[in-house]
Amino acid sequence: MRFYLATTNHNKLREFREILGDVEPIDIDVEENGSSFEENALIKARAACRLTGEPAVADDSGLCVDALGGEPGIYSARYSEVGDRKAKILRELQGEVKRSAKFVSAIAAVFPDGEEFTARGEVRGEITDKPYGDNGFGYDPIFYMPEFGKTMAELTPELKNAASHRGKAIQAMLKQLKARGVPQ
Ligand code: IMP
Repeated sequence: MRFYLATTNHNKLREFREILGDVEPIDIDVEENGSSFEENALIKARAACRLTGEPAVADDSGLCVDALGGEPGIYSARYSEVGDRKAKILRELQGEVKRSAKFVSAIAAVFPDGEEFTARGEVRGEITDKPYGDNGFGYDPIFYMPEFGKTMAELTPELKNAASHRGKAIQAMLKQLKARGVPQ
């Protein structure tokens, strides 16, 4: 099944296409004023479905740092100016020994008949002392994954998709689609 994906983030689009295949981006202008990843994903997917009249998906994702009380969390895209977000996290964690964090992705799927559901993927890791690696996007260079001995930005796209929060959320979404008999 072909989905509209409510995003202007070309990295998210690429990752969705690598796993889901037929995905068409749509730019929707909607306020992400939910209080959870799931609520924000639903807000975006509902708007895209309303606009197109077709099935739509949206991802709301972010980095939750334990020593920062889970911040930036749902505010990951607005945490600081573009280009300074990773540096801000590193500054906040200067001298901090507790560096555990998780990436979260919530995906919402919304259908024209009103059916909707969400799926979540999470992955735990550690915040590094400085950025490493050029792949991926966003906070990937400062997110170290002990099972690979690398940051997310040092993984190949294939490995990131297999291990990442978004990859896991998309797989969980596919499972739900299958269980509901939605053709794929
Ligand atoms: P959203 O568009 O509101 O979901 O913003 C998510 C923000 O979280 C992005 O702009 C990134 O800063 C961050 N983020 C989400 N997923 C990833 C990822 O896979 N790698 C690195 N940063 C991510």
